Amino acid sequence: MGSRMIRSVVIGCGSYTPKKAMKNAEFEEFLDTSDEWIVQRTGIEQRHIAAKGETTADLAEHAARAALENAGIGVDSIDLIILATSTPDNTFPATAVEVQHRLGMNHGAAFDTQAVCSGFVFAMTTADQYIRSGHAKRILVIGAETFSRILDWKDRTTCVLFGDGAGAVILEAGEGKGSSEDEGILTCHIRSDGSHKDKLYVDGGPSSTQTTGYLRMEGKEVFRHAVGMITDVITAAYDATGLSSEDLDWFIPHQANKRIIDASAKKLKIASQKVVITVNMHGNTSAASIPLAIDTAVKDGRVKKGDLIMLEAMGGGFTWGSVLLRW
Ligand code: ACO
Repeated sequence: MGSRMIRSVVIGCGSYTPKKAMKNAEFEEFLDTSDEWIVQRTGIEQRHIAAKGETTADLAEHAARAALENAGIGVDSIDLIILATSTPDNTFPATAVEVQHRLGMNHGAAFDTQAVCSGFVFAMTTADQYIRSGHAKRILVIGAETFSRILDWKDRTTCVLFGDGAGAVILEAGEGKGSSEDEGILTCHIRSDGSHKDKLYVDGGPSSTQTTGYLRMEGKEVFRHAVGMITDVITAAYDATGLSSEDLDWFIPHQANKRIIDASAKKLKIASQKVVITVNMHGNTSAASIPLAIDTAVKDGRVKKGDLIMLEAMGGGFTWGSVLLRW
């Protein structure tokens, strides 16, 4: 028997992708690669690319407005905006305050979090702490990226993998019994280990090179660590709640590579029909990938009220984490 406790309940979601969908075949025009190689190794068929002048804040604003509309609320009741990105419009101020301004909100607070592909999981975890401690009642959590801007378009080992997009959810303080039957976020687990920082990074920054830099990755090394790290945080969620893969309705992982997703689901004994895959449509959109996948599965009717959902991500740092929630 649990006791009454505050839970962070999702009351709405939204997403946005730039108009331009770039098919794998377009890379064949300027790189030694093929649609077949990309699909076979990654599951990616296309990715969206932001238009000239279209920024992370633009994508985030669209996703935020869609989430507010879906929840049927205005910004007046939002206490906090947390925006996860590794591709901010500017080094500062935070992209979150730009979005706050555009939404016509000048109360409360807004800040960015940076955990690369795990950014949305870190942002949800942070939001959950604010809600459960009573410091916020409604939080807009956004994942938004324009990775196309930090890609080395001459490097076939990285540029074919990533895309642009944004997704958002709104969390609201609700009441639970402290049991795994509750609605909302049941448990969050985040981790990082900077000893892996050189395996996936951007080779520039304001304090080091005074340039933005480009994404560099040892793909094989990332792949080698991914499944173990994902298993670690998902097992932690099961240990904390007494739930198991059999109890899940949906597994909504970070969308980096279909082979990583399949291998993780297999190791964790998650049935393939419970796995939400959008990497084919979006590529790896880093912090935006999970909220984009959530919104896709909600809007196409797969995710329903009361469903148990496991979110999981792993990315640069390395960082990794899981969020187990009941929709
Ligand atoms: N087209 C054609 N050939 C290619 C391409 C390409 N786009 N890219 C690499 N190759 C070649 C390589 O040069 C290599 O050739 P070689 O054997 O002559 O040297 C061959 O294909 C095999 O390359 P591998 O790196 O062994 O290919 P692998 O099967 O490991 O797939 C991949 C590479 C897709 C990058 C994979 O390792 C992977 O997905 N890693 C994880 C990446 C990931 O998830 N990153 C995101 C983490 S989240 C974040 O924080 C951003």
